[in-house]
Amino acid sequence: MQNLINILDLSCEEISELITVADDIIDNPENYYEKCAHKKLATLFYEPSTRTRLSFEAAMLELGGSVLGFSEASSSSVSKGESVGDTVKTVSAYADIIAMRHPKEGAPLVASQRADIPIINAGDGGHNHPTQTLTDLLTIHREKGTFENLTIGLCGDLKFGRTVHSLIAAMSRYSGIKFILISPEELKIPSFVKEDYFGYTPYEETTSLDEALPNLDILYMTRVQKERFFNEEDYLRLKDSYILTPGKLENAKSDLSIMHPLPRVNEISVDIDDDPRAAYFRQAKYGKYIRMALIMKLLNIH
Ligand code: NCD
Repeated sequence: MQNLINILDLSCEEISELITVADDIIDNPENYYEKCAHKKLATLFYEPSTRTRLSFEAAMLELGGSVLGFSEASSSSVSKGESVGDTVKTVSAYADIIAMRHPKEGAPLVASQRADIPIINAGDGGHNHPTQTLTDLLTIHREKGTFENLTIGLCGDLKFGRTVHSLIAAMSRYSGIKFILISPEELKIPSFVKEDYFGYTPYEETTSLDEALPNLDILYMTRVQKERFFNEEDYLRLKDSYILTPGKLENAKSDLSIMHPLPRVNEISVDIDDDPRAAYFRQAKYGKYIRMALIMKLLNIH
């Protein structure tokens, strides 16, 4: 049985296979309508979500399967004091696969040790978010046609932004990648990412988006993660650190791809949404297709 807890649980070959399947689903959706008939996905979300939960549910429904679950801890027995382990042990009897989001780092890993069915980490605290990374990889592949020789700017909250951590882990395995890490001093990339995920990939750290922009093939913007701050004052001071406006894009490459895992607060002006370089709503759409491919893989359905 395979789980997806960390993006590095998948080899580069497995990621390529998932992307091939997702591309085929986009081109030939009717071939997949019955693939998961009579299978059930449980979405156990202990933290808010729009895209991740709904794209997982849409993915399973589009595969002909069914979905069950909860979208906030307060509506489950967690509010009575049940452990994650007991919850997933129970849900293992009702579903075939679980997607779990939890505010505590490592909770999906703990769950995978108790569950009898595959567990997918749909975001654990400020740690990792491997299915967002699969979405990001499908987006990069469709926008750029390659995973190699790209300069990738990661901008915003690199400390608490779990999507950034998993994306670094995934992209560090390809050749010719360079990261430019753009953040305020207080929100720099954590040492666990540097130690565990960077490998030999070169990176630069800067506080200036303006200086970095002209060199980038991909700009990955992120929201300052309000819910992970210990005090409101720090959040208020840092929340407007970077705001991408049409004026700032004047010096950017004409084939730049602007990505964002969403939700956006104000870090990308809505005036950019119609720029062909704005890839973030295409990215959100791709999330469903790659999750369809992932569900099939973990359920051993071909
Ligand atoms: C991200 C997350 O939950 O980490 N959202 C998502 O899944 N698309 C990013 C965020 O919340 O800022």
